[in-house]
Amino acid sequence: MKIETLKWVGNHLEVIDQRILPSTFTYISCWCALDVANAIKNMIIRGAPAIGIAAAYGIALEALRYENSTPSTFVAKLKIAFLVLGSSRPTAVNLSWALNRMELRWRGLSDNNNMKKIASELLSLAQELAASDVHINQRMGQIGAKLLPNVANVLTHCNAGALATVGYGTALGVLRSAVEMGKQISVVADETRPFLQGARLTAWEMVQEGIPCTLITDNMSGHLMSKGEIDAVVVGADRVAANGDVANKIGTYMVAVLSRRHKIPFYVACPLSTIDLSMPTGDDIPIEERGGDEVRGFGGSSWAAEGVRTRNPSFDITPAELVTALITENGVVLEPDEEKLKGLMTSEFH
Ligand code: MRU
Repeated sequence: MKIETLKWVGNHLEVIDQRILPSTFTYISCWCALDVANAIKNMIIRGAPAIGIAAAYGIALEALRYENSTPSTFVAKLKIAFLVLGSSRPTAVNLSWALNRMELRWRGLSDNNNMKKIASELLSLAQELAASDVHINQRMGQIGAKLLPNVANVLTHCNAGALATVGYGTALGVLRSAVEMGKQISVVADETRPFLQGARLTAWEMVQEGIPCTLITDNMSGHLMSKGEIDAVVVGADRVAANGDVANKIGTYMVAVLSRRHKIPFYVACPLSTIDLSMPTGDDIPIEERGGDEVRGFGGSSWAAEGVRTRNPSFDITPAELVTALITENGVVLEPDEEKLKGLMTSEFH
């Protein structure tokens, strides 16, 4: 089954509702920038590249919606759309990366009163970004798959698959490619409390494709590593700082520490759009703190003692020193550091 996480259908955007997978597979329609911002905020759509591309479509939707209005209304509505979408989630830099691309295209258009032309150009750019996301993932997949042994149990955390992108996936893209190359890959999926992206989304993707997958709770990975049952770890990223520190789903840091303890390679698959050279280190990356209900329970049911306080940081920082390599569309960066990342960002495909 080809998973189309988000798709443009004639005049609007449809996104898979990731809150209710795997029990229900359904699309939600977005007709304006606010619909898209709410879908991002409420985790209907999630995963760094997917929210970036969704936001780009959000801008296109708003431009199309106001293409027949006065130029001043058009400009005002578009400016608000950039603000609303830009503040929908804080950690994944792909969101501002995609919005910057959209804004540059808008500012670069010479005939600023031709709103139909602007709207159509913005839609074309959103579609280009969407198509290129899939190609980039496939390329990362081919590059990263070569790092894995021919037979391997590979642990992944959260969901960095087709559902977190436009298609194919970053970390899961590497695993898909390895399988396509004929490698015998068995995926070990952390369940990823509190939102259960591993149990609900990664496991679902793997089952759809018939890739062997074993689900574990987050506190089991150390035990499996100590028993020699994990050969490599591949995760995605929401933002990589200039020094190579990686922000990814809460719990990633724990997995990285355990990997180092057990001498297991820890790979991070991320497109260049996830690397943010303006953040010197991981300490500078904003970490989203979500509501306590996600920690107290799930899906409307709560199992925690009533009245208990919670913390819910949604991401953590894995220091660069724990990262064996970054896998990008421009190649593999072993032991990432500031100099290597600067070089990577200016290099060509090779
Ligand atoms: O809170 P989420 O589900 O948006 O977090 C997603 C992750 O942490 C992914 O690992 C990351 O975005 C990489 S997705 C290719």
